[in-house]
Amino acid sequence: MFAPTEPRKAPAPAERIATLRDQLNEHAHRYYVLDEPAIPDAEYDRLFQELQALEAQHPELASPDSPTRRVGGKPLDQFASVRHAVPMLSIRTETDTEATGAKNFDLRVRKELGLGEGDPPVEYVAELKFDGLAINLRYEHGVLVQAATRGDGETGEDVTQNIRTIRQIPLRLPKDAPRILEVRGEVYMRRDHFEALNERQREKIAKGAKGEKTFVNPRNAAAGAVRQLDPAIAAQRPLSFFAYGVGEVTPPGEGGPDFDTHFQLLLTLRSWGFPVAAQTQTAQGASELIAFHEKTGRARDQLPYDIDGVVYKVNSLALQKKLGFVTREPRWAVAHKYPAQEQMTKVLAIDVQVGRTGKLTPVAKLAPVFVGGVTVTNATLHNEDEARRKDVRIGDTVIVRRAGDVIPEVVSVLLDKRTQHAPQFTMPRTCPVCGSAAVREEGEADYRCTGGLFCAAQRKEAILHYAHRRAVEIEGLGDKLVEQLVDAGVVRTLPDLYRLGLTALAGLERMADKSANNLLDALEKSRQTTLPRFLFGLGIRHVGEATAKELARHFGSLDAVMDAREEQLLEVSDVGPIVAQSLRTFFDQPHNREVVEQLRACGVTWPEGKPAARAPQPLSGKTFVITGTLPTLSRDEAKDRVEAAGGKVAGSVSKKTDYVVAGTEAGSKLTKAQELGVAVIDEAALLAMLAAPAA
Ligand code: IVH
Repeated sequence: MFAPTEPRKAPAPAERIATLRDQLNEHAHRYYVLDEPAIPDAEYDRLFQELQALEAQHPELASPDSPTRRVGGKPLDQFASVRHAVPMLSIRTETDTEATGAKNFDLRVRKELGLGEGDPPVEYVAELKFDGLAINLRYEHGVLVQAATRGDGETGEDVTQNIRTIRQIPLRLPKDAPRILEVRGEVYMRRDHFEALNERQREKIAKGAKGEKTFVNPRNAAAGAVRQLDPAIAAQRPLSFFAYGVGEVTPPGEGGPDFDTHFQLLLTLRSWGFPVAAQTQTAQGASELIAFHEKTGRARDQLPYDIDGVVYKVNSLALQKKLGFVTREPRWAVAHKYPAQEQMTKVLAIDVQVGRTGKLTPVAKLAPVFVGGVTVTNATLHNEDEARRKDVRIGDTVIVRRAGDVIPEVVSVLLDKRTQHAPQFTMPRTCPVCGSAAVREEGEADYRCTGGLFCAAQRKEAILHYAHRRAVEIEGLGDKLVEQLVDAGVVRTLPDLYRLGLTALAGLERMADKSANNLLDALEKSRQTTLPRFLFGLGIRHVGEATAKELARHFGSLDAVMDAREEQLLEVSDVGPIVAQSLRTFFDQPHNREVVEQLRACGVTWPEGKPAARAPQPLSGKTFVITGTLPTLSRDEAKDRVEAAGGKVAGSVSKKTDYVVAGTEAGSKLTKAQELGVAVIDEAALLAMLAAPAA
């Protein structure tokens, strides 16, 4: 059979693959280098998957420059050696951190070039000195064929698989790039990526993962990732790249580019898709180098990555050639350092600090040391495991690091300098602030104080939580006011709230009579509450609203909850071993019980009942999501009614959702429900379900 007209032909696979690769490379460049994505992530993923599928169907069309090749190489046994076509030189370092560093360099250059006082200033390029590791990227016919570390300058290691995972590095170059091009630059890790990586590592270690460690600094983490034999692991370590020079390049006589200046070369690299730091600039003579050094020094902490100095290079390539090299260092370039972000000092003591939510953090008290531009006397040890892993002890000599706004950190202990034999650090089993028990739950890295109601460190949080709309509700008692009341010493624990009078309040700044009266009224109103609200308001770890309701229903009275043994607590639906233990520990703290008693003495009451055998409930086992504006019920009211009828209310729609109750202006949750095929009902239908007898 013949169709009357031929259907339009789909492009041949080879053609489509080429288009997809071009598009994906372009979008990756916009996203990772220019920071200007042109399409949503989902669209990128779609194109990527289409390419993956086509390449799987046509293995003969595979190519090393395909974006799909950034991940998924096989683990190696060892790296192959690479002999550099052009040696990777090092650079003379000016350690004098004062302005004279730049002056001395300029003087040397002028002398070598035979310039006198009357001659014009030499033109330089001023760059950042990135704190990562040097890499040589080799492109042949526009395709990345090899990436190598510096090694000893003559021979490095072939780390192509790992370098391919760096999205900022182009896998393919535009048509105007030379036949052979080696780009040199620094692979580094951004500080935020480094912090996130270490956080993930800490979690893995806390969960008992073997062979995992945290990294000392971004440079170390970057070097570890580049020299990782398993590219799948390397791909999870977010690396970045800046280009700052070239190695072998097709010579001008053979059709290669003919640059006059280093700056021109950098701009061309940028046009070929390589990230070149925006701060890179030309500078006339020593004075402008000094200005650059000062300006960059001030901005250093705000950069998203570490630099350890700046680099000055003679701009003219002809002059560079004239200046030449001494041993392995060019005479035309110098690195000018900044004060280090890591220093050595002594640990005088290890204190334990208690945070607003009761988290205990060990902190090393240090002999004052100037690091990263400030004097540091405290450095966090994060938690007990970290303190032990680093084995920090009183009297030890340690390396402290401070970079950017990050809290100073003890990086490592210099064990050979340990003279004293102080014992290993152990977390105290009681809170250093209030003396309540400090406990560490299974699977958690942190110890927490369990005296939430009494502990001075947790006062503000405890009061805010108690006063919350969904807890005991004290209208108007928010962040600022709590801050004021506690800081003025007027309120220490919850019962103090009920002892407040007009005179105490009148003494507070910005507290008009009217607001004082309003607060007193709200406090008066809060005296009459319900057991679930009160239980929730105590801020017991893991006891949310729903659990508080179940506890109240099950036990009927506060005393019954407070005195319940763990086995009895476990009988409550919604209460597992962690919650039961948390309740038990909380009520075992004499200080917490005292506060509860005082609250009752202050007249805080609620109707108590008998332990209730649970009546069959119409909505039990059903999960609801409430969205939009309902005609008569507020969202809180609807939630209360559903929960009172045994249902659960969740915040987001998933396959486990039974009903979405949608009002007007329901947005993404409604769409999600429709996508997942979850039943959508209105308020009237909900009310009908609530009224129906239990099945
Ligand atoms: S130029 C011939 N420029 O510092 C000059 N190096 O030995 C070769 N570095 O580990 C280096 N930022 O990776 C140059 N803007 C920059 C740099 C830079 C960091 C590193 C380089 C090497 C060391 C210099």
